[in-house]
Amino acid sequence: MAERTLSIIKPDATRRNLTGKINAKFEDAGLRIVAQKRLQLTKAQAEAFYGVHKERPFFNDLCAFMISGPVVVQVLQGDNAVAKNRDVMGATNPANAAAGTIRKEFAESIEANSVHGSDSAENAAVEIAFFFAGTEIVG
Ligand code: CMP
Repeated sequence: MAERTLSIIKPDATRRNLTGKINAKFEDAGLRIVAQKRLQLTKAQAEAFYGVHKERPFFNDLCAFMISGPVVVQVLQGDNAVAKNRDVMGATNPANAAAGTIRKEFAESIEANSVHGSDSAENAAVEIAFFFAGTEIVG
């Protein structure tokens, strides 16, 4: 069933000019980029977006990293988009990511891991609404 998920190309990847190579991975996997914009997040936005992690020891460093440069936020659409995107991204820690995945090829560390993707359809709806108005998504 066609589904949507929220993707973020993180500052380590925009800094190294990898947006196109990462987008090619999504498109080659059958995911369609139906919305996309480049943003400089504010500290308040990063803290709100990652609010579920606020008690974690890595929260402050993660938020500082996410505002260290531009991000590209995007909506990916396709059959089983949430799970498919997680497959394309690979494991959170690039040391554990499978060959051919974005994180295996491009990520620098568990923090600077190049991409974020929603972990469920429910969270995808919340995360998409955080960044996009319905009129900005053209499926
Ligand atoms: P992401 O999918 O964006 O969701 C939360 C992020 O926290 C995660 O990817 C990692 O980049 C980052 N992070 C940093 N340290 C850790 C850690 N020890 N465990 C899990 N995530 C971490």
